Amino acid sequence: MKKPLLWCAAALISFSSLAITPQPFLQTKVQFSQSQQQADILVLLVPEKSGELNLTQWSRASRTQINRAIQVAEFTGKSGSKLEIIAPVGLDYGRIVLLGVGEPAKLSRAKAEEIGASLSTHVNATSAKRVHVNSQLISDTALNTSMSTALAHGMELRNYRFDRFKSKPEARPAQQYSWQVADVAASQARYQQLHALAQGVFTARELTNLPGSNGYPEAFANYAHEVLAPLGVKVTILGPEQVKALGMGSLYGVSQGSDKKAHLLIAHWPGAEGQPIALVGKGNTFDTGGYNLKTAAASILRMQTDKAGGAAVVGAIQALAGQQAAVNVVGVVPLSINMISGDAQLPGDVVTAGDGSTIEVGNTDAEGRLILADGIWYAREHLKARAIVDIATLTGAKVGALGSVYSAVFTEHSDIEQTLHQAGELVQERVWRLPLAGYETITKSRIADRINTGSPGAQAGAIFLKHFAGDTPWAHIDMAGDAFSDSAKGIHPEGANGYGVRLLTEWVQLYQQQAN
Ligand code: BES
Ligand code: MN
Ligand code: ZN
Repeated sequence: MKKPLLWCAAALISFSSLAITPQPFLQTKVQFSQSQQQADILVLLVPEKSGELNLTQWSRASRTQINRAIQVAEFTGKSGSKLEIIAPVGLDYGRIVLLGVGEPAKLSRAKAEEIGASLSTHVNATSAKRVHVNSQLISDTALNTSMSTALAHGMELRNYRFDRFKSKPEARPAQQYSWQVADVAASQARYQQLHALAQGVFTARELTNLPGSNGYPEAFANYAHEVLAPLGVKVTILGPEQVKALGMGSLYGVSQGSDKKAHLLIAHWPGAEGQPIALVGKGNTFDTGGYNLKTAAASILRMQTDKAGGAAVVGAIQALAGQQAAVNVVGVVPLSINMISGDAQLPGDVVTAGDGSTIEVGNTDAEGRLILADGIWYAREHLKARAIVDIATLTGAKVGALGSVYSAVFTEHSDIEQTLHQAGELVQERVWRLPLAGYETITKSRIADRINTGSPGAQAGAIFLKHFAGDTPWAHIDMAGDAFSDSAKGIHPEGANGYGVRLLTEWVQLYQQQAN
């Protein structure tokens, strides 16, 4: 009997090693200094129409060769353009990449990030280990700092890989980047902020990418705890019995048919005094539709991404804590898994939410609003939030209306709408306002206080949620279709993109500043 026992032990070990724990995502290194460094590749940032490049530290011969290459190739420095040449003899580099940055004062942060991302794909296609970036042609010191750090940020964002399920993952990008910048201290400080933001984006991508059987409610909550607690975030995880005891029957019901029951994650970053700003994210870790089963193979296949709103909230809290931001902010993530069994919720069932109101489950596939109802109520009633923004992959109707170019925002508070819009433009996670007024009656139920369905679809979700915010200033972001892409583009690798982390992180700070 020895053999089977041993086999059993080995199986247990390999099984437990699959536990989903956080891991470092980047193997690239970034340094800032004022001096030139040896490297395999020199990247030279070139403003548009620079004319003859005035590279002071270089020999006349090197300058002549570079300027001749620019002339012959008709390189103008247009933003995003590249020209690669073999380095002239006598310089400490193998190749030189001239990277066009357009007119520096007009280069937006988002465009700079995109150029940084395209630089990283360029470098990743070579065997270069060391990359030196020379920014001396960006003469304005403030612009030099903001552009260099935005480029480095874009480079990092693009270099994330979801490879934890590959038995032989491809080597990750592992170059050392040294930046020659005008103001080393300012660049380092700004880079640290953006690096913290990138870490939040990676967490959100990772949580969103996790398959349904790995990223179930408790696993999601534990992962978030492991990432957040070391940063000084106060993490509370309510298990299914506590969810029930607090009366959150709307959250509880969605997962009642699964062995993996509902949880509520609360993550508080107390970076300032006063009542907290609350971010509430939909953490439905898989959406089969329930008894209103999703029958289209292509649509059910992607429903591990139905936790992207919750993932964005965890990522934003991580970023704000990593930045030591002076904001009092709390993330609330109702966690569920929408599944079928003999115990599962039935269409037509009535559940009682935390606020005591009753809900007719007109469709088990409209589960997002059921879990968010209790999450929003918890933020209002138990956390005394002064403002609430919820974010969710809520409706197919939103995808029909806006695709993935904008997320939809519903609110009656123009200060929230304006700051969300501003944050969205800054990071290119753009929001478009849709109306709430005029749709008040579309979630009326014959037998309960309200029903979780209605038409038009995106408004029905929003009107339903509005009740649970009560008098607390509130906005709802429907990010359906925005969280995942089959192919890499710009600052995003393929798969989950961490949508919402950068939007929420910037928004919290804008909203806080405005209130001061
Ligand atoms: N998670 C889905 C919404 C969704 C659809 C996200 C497509 C991403 C891509 C949500 O839970 C859902 O199923 N919504 C239904 C609601 C309907 C049954 C009232 C929808 O929009 O079809
Ligand atoms: Mn659904
Ligand atoms: Zn869903």
